[in-house]
Amino acid sequence: MAVDGLYIQMFSIHGLVRHENPEMGRDADTGGQIKYVLELCRYLAGHRSVRQVDLFTRFIDDKILSDDYTVPIQEVEEGFRIVRIQCGGKKYMRKELLWPHLDEYIDKTIRFIKRENAIPDVVHGHYADAGYVAMQLSSSFGIPFVFTGHSLGRAKRQKLLDDGLESDEIERKYRIDHRIRVEENILRNADLVITSTHQEAEEQYGMYRFHEAPRYQVIPPGLDVDIFYPFYRDMVEEQERSDVALHTRASIFQELNRFFVTPDKPLILALCRPDKRKNISGLIHAYGEDKELQTMANLAIYAGLRKDISEMEDNEREVLTEMLLLMDKYDLYGKMAIPKKHDFEHEVPELYRIAAQRKGVFVNPALTEPFGLTLLEAAAVGLPVVATNDGGPRDIFANCGCGQLIDPTDGKKIAAAIRKVLADGERWERFSKNGILNVRKHYTWISHTKTYMEEINDLLEEAKTSVKLSDIPMDPIGRRLAGLNHFIITDIDNTLIGEDNSRLAEFLEIVRENRSRIGFGVATGRSLESAVHFLKQHKVEGLDVIISSVGSEIYYGAGNQPGIGWRTHISNKWDRKRIKGLLDGLPFLEYQEEANQRPFKISYNMAADRDHLASVHDLLLKNKCPYSLIYSHQKYLDILPYRASKGKAIRYLSYKWEIPLGNFLVCGDSGNDEEMLRGEPKAVVVGNYSPELEKLRGRRKIFFATKVNAGGILEALEHYNFLKEVNP
Ligand code: GLC
Ligand code: MG
Repeated sequence: MAVDGLYIQMFSIHGLVRHENPEMGRDADTGGQIKYVLELCRYLAGHRSVRQVDLFTRFIDDKILSDDYTVPIQEVEEGFRIVRIQCGGKKYMRKELLWPHLDEYIDKTIRFIKRENAIPDVVHGHYADAGYVAMQLSSSFGIPFVFTGHSLGRAKRQKLLDDGLESDEIERKYRIDHRIRVEENILRNADLVITSTHQEAEEQYGMYRFHEAPRYQVIPPGLDVDIFYPFYRDMVEEQERSDVALHTRASIFQELNRFFVTPDKPLILALCRPDKRKNISGLIHAYGEDKELQTMANLAIYAGLRKDISEMEDNEREVLTEMLLLMDKYDLYGKMAIPKKHDFEHEVPELYRIAAQRKGVFVNPALTEPFGLTLLEAAAVGLPVVATNDGGPRDIFANCGCGQLIDPTDGKKIAAAIRKVLADGERWERFSKNGILNVRKHYTWISHTKTYMEEINDLLEEAKTSVKLSDIPMDPIGRRLAGLNHFIITDIDNTLIGEDNSRLAEFLEIVRENRSRIGFGVATGRSLESAVHFLKQHKVEGLDVIISSVGSEIYYGAGNQPGIGWRTHISNKWDRKRIKGLLDGLPFLEYQEEANQRPFKISYNMAADRDHLASVHDLLLKNKCPYSLIYSHQKYLDILPYRASKGKAIRYLSYKWEIPLGNFLVCGDSGNDEEMLRGEPKAVVVGNYSPELEKLRGRRKIFFATKVNAGGILEALEHYNFLKEVNP
């Protein structure tokens, strides 16, 4: 750990993220995850071994939304900033549409890192989209990668199928296959996955092929215990209570008293969304069948807000209608309350407290309960809990000892469990006290942060020694590139290596000596495999970058890590099949051997002929295919995406890694180097150049060497005083 503390980068890209008054529930993408991430960042920033937390989200400038989302860097408090990075334009879009723009997000984040001159110690992605971004950064910079899924594609797909949706529809609406593929990849590469419950770690992640790859740590989210304070504090501090709280209580009582004949009885409280899986009907059956329970306690069910049930969505309408029918069937008038509306922010904590003051019980009868935030809230104020025997409650009860588990499908047992809690005063007190104490011990952001930091410190220790399982090599090339300000990029054939290689070793020695300040790469028509093989034969090793296949591919570092950002960038409007189909019809073109054909490069041999070249252009233009065409050595014809070429790849490197174009020395010998030699970079044409480059003579920043091959490059280093500039 650095002496001055850790720098953590958090990623939560979709939805609307702002620290003040976050717009919870404004749309489906702005919900619990965002609240969670904001709280986590705030508490981490306050931790003594953390120097800085940056929360990365999307920059959004959209007239239907607040201006708050247009602030690129926002200081929230000391050591905590929100950083907004643009991708896919400025308009708001739902998370399913963000996938194609994430590589742009990554490139811009790398620029940010370079500009700030601060590489994070850890990256942490939330949800698959931000997980993807964090994963790529982790592999570029060789730093640990932490992932929190919040929800997972495989479980979601299952749920939607169960709800009766068709596979096609699910795919169209949710891009679920892509999401699942990304999640599999994330699991393969994550160093640590954080879940809220054990069940989430085992069952939800258990659906994944690479389930076993990462380490898991269960750290439940924290609860705000300042809001969910113990019920007895009310009585102690009766006089100090604010008007709002008094008013809230009064309105809760008023509402409940409309339903109850004997309002002072203990209260059985349920609070949930009107969703079938929440099994409200199971609870009413249990209560309705048990006369003794009815004499002991009243039942209050808060099932969301409603105006007109007949206008609600199917699932909700059915749940609420059944609730009313059951109330009637068991004749629960005077004993059961089903309030129409309540104010979540103020009423919910008060509700739990009122139920606790009346020695009641909170019941969660859901068929499945992965987490169970309401249980924690109830326990935190001192209200005992009866809850479904499933992942979330199991964890909570094991930690807190605040109630009893039940089988939600067995009405008799539910009723019996509730009766037992209500009747046994000692037991009630024990559950109540345990809840108040143990929620504070296990479920606050302070305890969350403590466990979190222990895990991170372990990771950083391990990272020093361990070898990763992942297939992405952990060569921290990003760390290196982010520190560089100068680069030499050279063509291979007849430039770096050619007929006269007598000065190659001398050149490579200079590159080695200046390695800490100069990046070194090649740009070639060869494929990656062919380039690597050929360079090795000539003992050229340790390259930072290989731009191969005429600029249609970029690879980084010793592991030749593919540049995914570049691939995504050039893939725009590229239709290989269609172009090949068109060109195959031209008799004067001969398709090159398969080894030369690449996803973003179609190569032919073609004898030099002006008319032929013109007909290729004509054909592609007429058919509205965007492309770039490179003809070289009077015989090679390469068709690439319109955004690809060796020169454009160099410009992309300069942009992404924030290395000024003017600080590149670019070396070439023939027509297919022409485009990368022109413009801003310092260029050299080696002495043995092909005649087609003669036209560049006399141009600014294009130096014609007299020496051949590597000798020419050495001459250019002198000419531009490159080494002096690099080591002032
Ligand atoms: C290399 C490639 C070939 C390409 C040529 C010109 O020779 O193998 O496919 O056409 O360079 O760029
Ligand atoms: Mg060449």
